[in-house]
Amino acid sequence: MLDQVTENLPSDQYLIINAGNSFDRNSPYTGIAAKYIVRMLGLSGVDVIGIGPTELLLGAGNLKKLLSRSAVEMVSANVPGFLPYIRFNKCGGRCKVLVTSVIDPGVLKTLTVKFKPVPTDPVAAIRKIEKEVDHDLFIVIIHAMDKRIAEIANSCPGIDLVIDGLTHGITKKIDKKTVMPLVMSNRRGQYVSYLDYRPDMKPEFTQPVNLWVSREKTAEDLQIKKLAEKYDKEKNEYGRKLREERLRQKMMKKTPNLYLGYHACESCHPDNVASWRKTRHADALATLVRKGKEHDVECIRCHVTGMDDHDVIGGFSSFEENPWMVNVQCESCHGPGANHVQQPHKNRMKVGRQMDCRHCHTYTTDPGFDFDKKVKIIEHKAVQSTKP
Ligand code: HEC
Ligand code: HEC
Ligand code: HEC
Ligand code: HEC
Repeated sequence: MLDQVTENLPSDQYLIINAGNSFDRNSPYTGIAAKYIVRMLGLSGVDVIGIGPTELLLGAGNLKKLLSRSAVEMVSANVPGFLPYIRFNKCGGRCKVLVTSVIDPGVLKTLTVKFKPVPTDPVAAIRKIEKEVDHDLFIVIIHAMDKRIAEIANSCPGIDLVIDGLTHGITKKIDKKTVMPLVMSNRRGQYVSYLDYRPDMKPEFTQPVNLWVSREKTAEDLQIKKLAEKYDKEKNEYGRKLREERLRQKMMKKTPNLYLGYHACESCHPDNVASWRKTRHADALATLVRKGKEHDVECIRCHVTGMDDHDVIGGFSSFEENPWMVNVQCESCHGPGANHVQQPHKNRMKVGRQMDCRHCHTYTTDPGFDFDKKVKIIEHKAVQSTKP
């Protein structure tokens, strides 16, 4: 899969590391995805994966079961019960590369889910391995927020390279007495970073380079391609059943149909509609179409309006049923509008808040989400009040 980089190198001269945190905890398809992803990573020649918060969410038992069916290993220095590290002998035994991973218990608090097993102190765990295991090079994947990454790294002077397991984006450096490169994992695995290291010279890494990996490229291996197809089939079948079941429950509860679509807002809020049209929300479906993903149940729910609403029907359900509910429209953030349009003063719409964004701008799809900054980008206030 990484032929672009590894093509001319003997396998004894490179190491492929996956930072982990690969699963979307909000997705109903995570269980299915995990099954396939772990196997695909094994087939892709990944040498080691760092256990991150979303791997823990699968549960230790499930994770072990998945690993037993894959060629890849997962490590964590501070999650009890897993391999604490792996040491690779590279360059004809001239370079012993020690790789481990930690989770800062602080990040788990933000997830409001009870984790088992509970991670221990990351700094103590890293130091212990560094002291006890002979090595030439020490690579640590750290799952922690920005500032904590620097704190943890600076408390462990023996680390040669830190991989940021949480923040998505392009490479940056963190402060350390000797400036240490920091490779970031990237959004949805669409990028890989690589850097060169020469053990024979003064041990130093080059600045990391980022590569775009398309699914077509990763699927050039026939086995992986087959798995990807199987995954799509299983997921879409599950999605269809899930949708039918939800619809059935809503019918039984006599759930009201209150979604209208943005045309219903236009008469009274023409300026808001006009400026919303200029935001990326208004073209969110086109983005999926460009990727050939508009029928993928895993993708569509955040690129349309009201699909995951459990209380009210009328949100997007299919292209046949209500194609006018595509894209991220007004009612994604303001809630369904049928009562409001009848008596606007009496039935107020809710004004979008952080919570309303987080449904789609999740920990996985938009980890660095900053409400105050992003809300300015989607500004769609009426220039002059046109409200009657
Ligand atoms: C018949 C006219 C009319 C239609 C149609 C209409 N609105 Fe309104 N909207 C109003 C009026 C009037 C107000 C001011 C309400 C008030 O301040 O009491 C308002 C206020 C709002 C507010 C501000 C809420 C607040 O409390 O500050 C939002 C958001 C909103 N509308 C969204 C929508 C959306 C979304 C639609 C389409 C589904 C829509 N409106 C359709 C008349 C309308
Ligand atoms: C129904 C899901 C959904 C909701 C709710 C939602 N967004 Fe988005 N948002 C998206 C999608 C999907 C895109 C990408 C659209 C594209 O480029 O095709 C996006 C893109 C954006 C962008 C442009 C890209 C970027 O990240 O800079 C901003 C800004 C943004 N959203 C802000 C917000 C804010 C603020 C809220 C809450 C008030 C919010 N969104 C609520 C789905 C959503
Ligand atoms: C949980 C909600 C959610 C799901 C599920 C989701 N997206 Fe998005 N998507 C977003 C949001 C939010 C953005 C805007 C975030 C940003 O650009 O910072 C976005 C942006 C994008 C973009 C444009 C920016 C980029 O990263 O290149 C593409 C392409 C995209 N999504 C494709 C997909 C595909 C393909 C799937 C299914 C595998 C998918 N999305 C599933 C919420 C989601
Ligand atoms: C991605 C989420 C999102 C979408 C989509 C969205 N809004 Fe809003 N809207 C907000 C937020 C957040 C605020 C309050 C923040 C602000 O002042 O910009 C707001 C404010 C408003 C207001 C009150 C401010 C004013 O102009 O007086 C109106 C009215 C409104 N939106 C109407 C609409 C209409 C109509 C649409 C669809 C064409 C729409 N919104 C789409 C999030 C959204």
